[in-house]
Amino acid sequence: MRVFVITGAGVSAESGIPTFRGKDGYWRNLDPAKLATPEAFARDPRLVWEWYGERRQRIRNAQPNAAHAAITRLAQIADEFLLVTQNVDDLHGRAGLPREKMVQIHGDIFLTKCSRCDFGFTDYDHDHEHEEEEGNVVSRCSKCDALMRPGVIWFGEQLPSNELQQIENYLDRGVCDLVIVVGTTAAFGPIVDWALRASHDGGELSEVNPEETPLSQFATRLVREPAAIALPRIVDTIVAGV
Ligand code: APR
Repeated sequence: MRVFVITGAGVSAESGIPTFRGKDGYWRNLDPAKLATPEAFARDPRLVWEWYGERRQRIRNAQPNAAHAAITRLAQIADEFLLVTQNVDDLHGRAGLPREKMVQIHGDIFLTKCSRCDFGFTDYDHDHEHEEEEGNVVSRCSKCDALMRPGVIWFGEQLPSNELQQIENYLDRGVCDLVIVVGTTAAFGPIVDWALRASHDGGELSEVNPEETPLSQFATRLVREPAAIALPRIVDTIVAGV
């Protein structure tokens, strides 16, 4: 059984992490152009770090939910499995999903990287005092002295080539029996394309989302429920059928 899963902010909503475009979503009150672009960082790196500091803290205080756990379980029973997540949080990993079975296509919020060279480090446990997270100072790269930035992909930036290649390799290896797209407006880049390529030729394409998206018209199954409710049930059915 070859399985391909795509997740967006909706899968972490029930863990208390706001989505971007949903009710109370980040982009309802905040301007992405002021916080999530290279230009915004160049203009006011402290403001950008303050916001990512708040988000890091909120994620550290959150727990994976039943949807994250169900996806990990699906990965355990599938012969081949790949998750592509647009989320920069670490909840899939904390739910036990092995790193090699997932691609964080928009980066990792706990990665701090140089804005010029390839220097960088991750810090999940906040064991290093990060003054920049409090917006006090913005630290500089110990290799080239450029500003350090959050390791996420900002609007207007290229998607990371290694991660793209990992997805291409998986999709090139053949169609998937099961494709599940969870909690995304599918408005971003190649999401619909990946889902259709993975499911073309009779693969099942399920969308788990309380709302309609551009992907809905292509889905073979629409599940208009919250992910933490729907996914455990969907995986139970698959486990029972295996
Ligand atoms: N279960 C399932 N889906 C949910 C839930 C839930 N509990 N709550 C909300 N949703 C759905 C919403 O209906 C919406 O379709 O999740 C989707 C969240 O959409 P967005 O906020 O647009 O998030 P996402 O699709 O991940 O955004 C893509 O855009 O802002 C950039 O880089 C950012 O990775 C992000 C990308």
